[in-house]
Amino acid sequence: MTFCRMLMRVLARRFSTGDRVTQVKCCRPITTSVNLQARAVRKSELMPAEGPPHAQKKLFTPGPLGVSMTTKQAMLRDLGSRDTEFIEIVKSIRRTIVELAGVSQSSYSCVPMQGSGSFAIESVLTTTVPRNGGKVLILENGAYGRRQASICDVLGIAYHKESFQENEMVSPERVQQILESDHSFTNVSVVHCETSSGVINPISKIGAVVKELCPNAVFFVDAMSSFGGIPINMADAKVDYLVTSANKCLEGVPGFSLAIAPIEHLRSCKGNARSYALDLTDQYEGLEKNGQFRFTPPTHAMLAFHRALTELEAEGGILARAQRYKNSRERLREGMAKLGFTEFLSGDHEGYIITSFFFPKDPHFNFVEFYTLLAKKGMVIYPGKVLNADCFRIGNIGHLFPHNMMILLDKIDQVCQEMGMHVPFHN
Ligand SMILES: Cc1ncc(COP(=O)(O)O)c(C=O)c1O
Repeated sequence: MTFCRMLMRVLARRFSTGDRVTQVKCCRPITTSVNLQARAVRKSELMPAEGPPHAQKKLFTPGPLGVSMTTKQAMLRDLGSRDTEFIEIVKSIRRTIVELAGVSQSSYSCVPMQGSGSFAIESVLTTTVPRNGGKVLILENGAYGRRQASICDVLGIAYHKESFQENEMVSPERVQQILESDHSFTNVSVVHCETSSGVINPISKIGAVVKELCPNAVFFVDAMSSFGGIPINMADAKVDYLVTSANKCLEGVPGFSLAIAPIEHLRSCKGNARSYALDLTDQYEGLEKNGQFRFTPPTHAMLAFHRALTELEAEGGILARAQRYKNSRERLREGMAKLGFTEFLSGDHEGYIITSFFFPKDPHFNFVEFYTLLAKKGMVIYPGKVLNADCFRIGNIGHLFPHNMMILLDKIDQVCQEMGMHVPFHN
């Protein structure tokens, strides 16, 4: 047996405790076309295998999220930043993302940015808000909208923050009123899925209002936790700039974020950024010039992401992924209601990315204990992030399937009883 094969066997054994492990392909070159690869991914590879359910932690969080074993395995090799194979992989990733956004390759480009999601948000704001006379209308109904205001504070960018209730959508009617009375905005921004609560904002309706009343304003959507899990057509929604992360619904590993941008406008922003490293136009021009990142690229994360995109395609694309998430969310919703938990958002809210639940009123409930006991059973949930209510959150994006939700519900039931609660309880 070659050394390489032996190493792969050892690694496969190491990682084989949770998800199904298909044979590790040793030193197999990755072809550059996502479509070609997708055909080679067998459906069965996408499904987690039976096995000790908590041998690996399951992340029911807004991120970092769990990814498939095969996506993790794609990172098990080294490529240099100037390697022609790596350059082709980056090209293929960029084209696929533009395709998934429903816009044309000739008008839009995908610009990957090293760092977490916030790096792409900051790069769009610093690059696109004009230095002279720039002013952003930030439509916020949660922590991630407020983060944009914090970014503008640091960058010295003028803005008006219009706040909405955290358990309600941003209202296009109110956006209309604001834009009718104030024509000074050069940029309008909104978060698509406000991950702090799970609210999905109506970006198409907001986009229509922006382009009708303020046609020259740049419409920017933070689709960090929705792109890849909720179909978005940037052209239909009249979105100019959109950002997302490698490690949310696209199910790659963390390490970089992605901006989708209109090429002509992006070029017009040359020299406008208040940051050297986060200059989106410079990043774009570098990638266009020789296919390379300006600074050290996240090579391993890119390899994983390339694989993750083939798995999205093999699953049936964004619609199929959305259906999986909806199915998981439905199991969660029904099961949590049976146990006695109440959702933060009203029952008619259709978001299916992440769900916020109120803390039960039972005096035996203690969130830290609840979290810790669940984590010991391999189930990682997340604290709440809304301002005016005690909540925790359970996400169902990432490499999770309806049966994982059933296991989680069973553990939640056990943990509630371990804490001395009577289940089902009544709030
Ligand atoms: C909607 C939204 N925007 C921004 C961010 C920030 O991304 P990051 O923590 O990767 O910087 C997140 C993270 O979950 C998010 O959900």
